[in-house]
Amino acid sequence: MTDYHTSVMLGEVTEALNVRRGGLYFDGTLGGGGHSLAIMKAGGRVIATDLDEDAINYAESRFESEGMSGRYTLIRDNFKNFLRITDELGCDGIDGAVLDLGVSSHQFDEGERGFSYRFDAELDMRMDRRQSLTAEDVVNGYSEKDLLRVLYEYGEEGYAKSIVRNIIRVRKERPIRTTGELAEIIFGSVPYRKGGHPAKKTFQALRIEVNGELDGLDRAAEDIVSKLKSGGRLCVITFHSLEDKIIKNAFRLMATDCICDKSLPVCVCGHKATVKQIKTNKRATEKELEENNRSHSASLRIVEKL
Ligand SMILES: C[S@@+](CC[C@H](N)C(=O)[O-])C[C@H]1O[C@@H](n2cnc3c(N)ncnc32)[C@H](O)[C@@H]1O
Repeated sequence: MTDYHTSVMLGEVTEALNVRRGGLYFDGTLGGGGHSLAIMKAGGRVIATDLDEDAINYAESRFESEGMSGRYTLIRDNFKNFLRITDELGCDGIDGAVLDLGVSSHQFDEGERGFSYRFDAELDMRMDRRQSLTAEDVVNGYSEKDLLRVLYEYGEEGYAKSIVRNIIRVRKERPIRTTGELAEIIFGSVPYRKGGHPAKKTFQALRIEVNGELDGLDRAAEDIVSKLKSGGRLCVITFHSLEDKIIKNAFRLMATDCICDKSLPVCVCGHKATVKQIKTNKRATEKELEENNRSHSASLRIVEKL
């Protein structure tokens, strides 16, 4: 446990990876470095990516103070560039990989990052602060139709119409610049409901849009699997149904031999399974649920390369 982020399902992931001394592992979502550190402590070497400069700096000093010098390579990049990153490093096979999707506690808790309605700050929400698109651009610049799409698709927000109508009305008078202003508009658009803060779904939707979280996720899983050595495993932890569905379908497809239409008498697709499924939708233990609130929504899926 660190102030930066408490890793979810750390034991389950480390055990599933069955870390080989000297083996090479990919951690696409470095964060506070919890999963990477556990892999290194078990004898592995790590290539890790994160879009967030804070994560790279924090993990580097953590690894150095743990005596892990020379055992890791940290790259500030999108894990969706896995093939290019590993090619540039001259690496043609990995022994295992982990993706622990979404945002870190640090990103939520640093009010100025604009991820949370708990703090009043500029509407930012960028994991990678080198990118230009911010939540403020989405809220003030997107058409009504596009805002509705974002809130419906990425927030599954039943009150999207009312929220978007009020956003459009307010922004005609003045730009909406802060998380506080947006949360107030949402409060005025949504009747009281159980199950979390009224702004939760809208903030999730904006964050997913700003960071392109779901785009190319299935492709990234396939790319990582393509470089797994036989018997190597990919572990993915998801935190909401949208990303979980993408991973579930990608894993199912990779674990299936023929994907022809059932009405065809013989296979014409030639599709061959590249993995077998080891765990589907594994949840955190009772103990972890008690200790780490974030683990409540976590789902772990694991595939093994054939
Ligand atoms: C849940 S945290 C990971 C926590 C980490 N496993 C640990 O144990 O400390 C997710 C991290 O992944 C990063 N991230 C999310 N999507 C990414 C992407 N597509 N490419 C690179 N990093 C990403 C976020 O910036 C964040 O730091």
